[in-house]
Amino acid sequence: MILVTGGAGFIGSNFVLDWLAQSDEKVINLDKLTYAGNLRNLSSLSQDSRHIFVQGDIGDSSQVSQLLAQYQPRAIINLAAESHVDRSIHGPADFIQTNILGTFRLLEATHAYWRELDSTAKQNFRFLHVSTDEVYGSLAKNEPAFTEEHCYQPNSPYSASKASSDHLVRAYHHTYGLPVLTTNCSNNYGPFQFPEKLIPLMIVNALTGKPLPVYGDGQQIRDWLYVTDHCSAIRRTLEAGIPGETYNIGGWNEKPNIEIVQTICALLKESYPDTDFHSLIKHVDDRPGHDRRYAINATKIERELNWRPAETFASGIRKTIHWYLNNQQWVTDVQTGAYQEWISKNYAGLP
Ligand code: NAD
Ligand code: DAU
Repeated sequence: MILVTGGAGFIGSNFVLDWLAQSDEKVINLDKLTYAGNLRNLSSLSQDSRHIFVQGDIGDSSQVSQLLAQYQPRAIINLAAESHVDRSIHGPADFIQTNILGTFRLLEATHAYWRELDSTAKQNFRFLHVSTDEVYGSLAKNEPAFTEEHCYQPNSPYSASKASSDHLVRAYHHTYGLPVLTTNCSNNYGPFQFPEKLIPLMIVNALTGKPLPVYGDGQQIRDWLYVTDHCSAIRRTLEAGIPGETYNIGGWNEKPNIEIVQTICALLKESYPDTDFHSLIKHVDDRPGHDRRYAINATKIERELNWRPAETFASGIRKTIHWYLNNQQWVTDVQTGAYQEWISKNYAGLP
């Protein structure tokens, strides 16, 4: 079996669902259930004995060690993290705690477990760390996309904490020989994404007639990847990646934020022809330290692991919008008091 951390979050729950759709290998899912973790994402597995959910913290060494001893997983996929850049600007402490210290403690427990495995199990074991393109910093408009050799220049507390965790993972390979893999992926979108991130926030706000807050001039560029493509890239890297290597994952879909928001407005209009969603767009103060552009060169994973995204942005964004339109109860349920507090804090002054 495999151990997935953060498997009740956006990418984690998509990964667990996708994994069990493709294979009968069991998944232990360790998740703290922070505001971003949601067991409703996994309700289709509630009667499925292949999914074992455990509420807990990757930073709780004794719990992690006990889980490893009990279930003897052949691999760990580390997705648990604080993941929202704006929250890291308002309060970095949780990011340091989970992304740096949590990853460190998870590595310690993993190393102690791995060291005692027999030689075949030791050789076959993998620790796959899911990271981000944000560790590479910001690109100017005409600079080439990030390769795996690009230097680390993280600019936000979030990306600095992820960069830190990447360095720790690398060091556990270099120093102790732990068979690690690191993936650095661009912006994901798709079902179950918490509506604090750009795409679901815009869909959810538009559907309730609220302003669509675009930071600054909206010309910041991100590369967008449909979440199930990220899941297939993680599976492929686990299967065929070389220990100690890092793999960039991207969708070859660079787009300015304003274009994303305009596309969402246009697609929603197909379902609500009488509503003028574009008039809801409102430029607001920019994010402090806002990275101007990310772009991923995904040639290495394509060439060495034969992975390519299956979705285009045009197909993925349609699927995403349909998912939110068809799952309005999920949206209502996640918009708790704590969510409203976050919206008031980050978008103070917006109606
Ligand atoms: P998310 O915020 O939706 O989910 C994170 C999950 O981790 C939640 O279920 C949360 O409860 C859990 N968690 C948080 N702290 C924990 C802890 N200490 N112990 C155990 N569980 C904990 O995040 P996401 O968007 O699904 O991102 C998952 C991973 O992928 C993160 O490591 C993130 O840095 C990385 N990533 C995300 C994107 C993206 O666009 N969302 C892109 C590239 C990489
Ligand atoms: O690049 C990968 C990263 O993508 C992941 O590592 C992060 O976990 C994930 O959150 C995401 O980070 P971003 O900061 O790029 O994503 P976000 O959805 O928060 O913002 C996308 C862009 O949209 C960014 O340029 C900021 C802008 N934005 C965002 C929000 C929430 C707005 O203009 N308005 C908004 O209200």
